[in-house]
Amino acid sequence: MTAHRIATIPGDGIGREVVPAAQDVLALAGERHGFRLEWTEFDWSCEYYTRTGRMMPADGLDQVAAFDAIFLGAVGYPGVPDHVSLWGLLIPMRRAFAQYVNLRPVRLLRGIESPLRGIEPGDLDFVVVRENNEGEYSEIGGRLYRGTSREMAVQEAVFTRAGVEQVMRYAYNLARTRRGDLASATKSNGIIHTMPFWDELFREIGGDYPDVKTREYHIDALVGLFVLDPRRFDVVVASNLFGDILTDLGAAIVGSIGIAPSANLNPERRHPSMFEPVHGSAPDIAGQGIANPLGQIWSGALMLDHLGHSAAAAEVVDAMEDVLAGGTRTPDLGGTATTAQVTAAVRDALASRPLETGSGR
Ligand code: NAD
Ligand code: IPM
Ligand code: MN
Repeated sequence: MTAHRIATIPGDGIGREVVPAAQDVLALAGERHGFRLEWTEFDWSCEYYTRTGRMMPADGLDQVAAFDAIFLGAVGYPGVPDHVSLWGLLIPMRRAFAQYVNLRPVRLLRGIESPLRGIEPGDLDFVVVRENNEGEYSEIGGRLYRGTSREMAVQEAVFTRAGVEQVMRYAYNLARTRRGDLASATKSNGIIHTMPFWDELFREIGGDYPDVKTREYHIDALVGLFVLDPRRFDVVVASNLFGDILTDLGAAIVGSIGIAPSANLNPERRHPSMFEPVHGSAPDIAGQGIANPLGQIWSGALMLDHLGHSAAAAEVVDAMEDVLAGGTRTPDLGGTATTAQVTAAVRDALASRPLETGSGR
């Protein structure tokens, strides 16, 4: 039986509730499709930080480098400043493993009513390709004149030709496998160095993809169109910060931040890719057993797809849709079900599906 070695980092808050839930569902998918997931858990988190002064050991990246994938819950909790926790774990993972694509599907699932009027499943199905290694997320800058009336903070954004080109090529290629339509999020009217550079590269690389229809949107106009006319989007490529913000909005228009998945991909497969929901550790509901596990489960489905089990991945998402259509939902989707009840329902839905032969690729 094929086995895949997965490094699991539940992290903080609801990450510790939704990761085991997703593991249950993925294990069943493996049983049905003839593969096994071998989990090795790492307790790296804000709690680990308060014990050790670090978010992960000094050789933490080396410890997970040889795994087939990383399955992460969420990182960050009150008591540890967010820039410390995130730059101590999540962001180093994304960078050390050259996970320069953050793939974030925005798809309205069957059984969910979008908050947008007149939008049905099928109307809303696009993918945001977020640049995940550079851009506005940079360590360059500093704080000056602290405690004086001249106090200031400076933060540089870094866009490299190589970095922008690789994520754009990924997005162009992805558009080719879909409806052939690629939108670029820009702000070249206000941000006068990096964004015109982004636009130039978008057009230059587009020369190699004459079959892909392209459009450039200023980010401020783009967010409005996500709400007013989401049908028009197929693939959207965006810088690190713009992609971050766009995908929380994407999650909202498909019903809840609790369901949105993401894949931090190293497309060349030289390093492990990392799968995690779009949401964070949700300290406001942590420990109550009511977190929506579907974002973590869907992220797990993206991981199965990455590991070559596309049929199993599709089946997991179908089972989620069966559960949603049946009305079992956590409170973020207007229901009263617990994390455990939704998880059990997804497992039951999976178990009751006819087993199709073949296990994907
Ligand atoms: P958040 O996503 O954790 O929470 C925002 C809101 O959405 C909260 O009201 C929360 O209850 C709700 N929510 C989120 N996930 C949910 C789920 N699965 N089910 C039901 N409701 C859910 O964002 P935040 O409040 O800005 O951040 C909280 C902490 O998480 C911070 O420390 C932040 O830095 C961190 N964070 C980490 C990641 C990550 O690890 N990838 C992502 C985002 C935020
Ligand atoms: C995300 C999160 C992170 C990001 C934070 C927690 C650093 O919001 O994964 O969307 O901005 O990348
Ligand atoms: Mn985010």
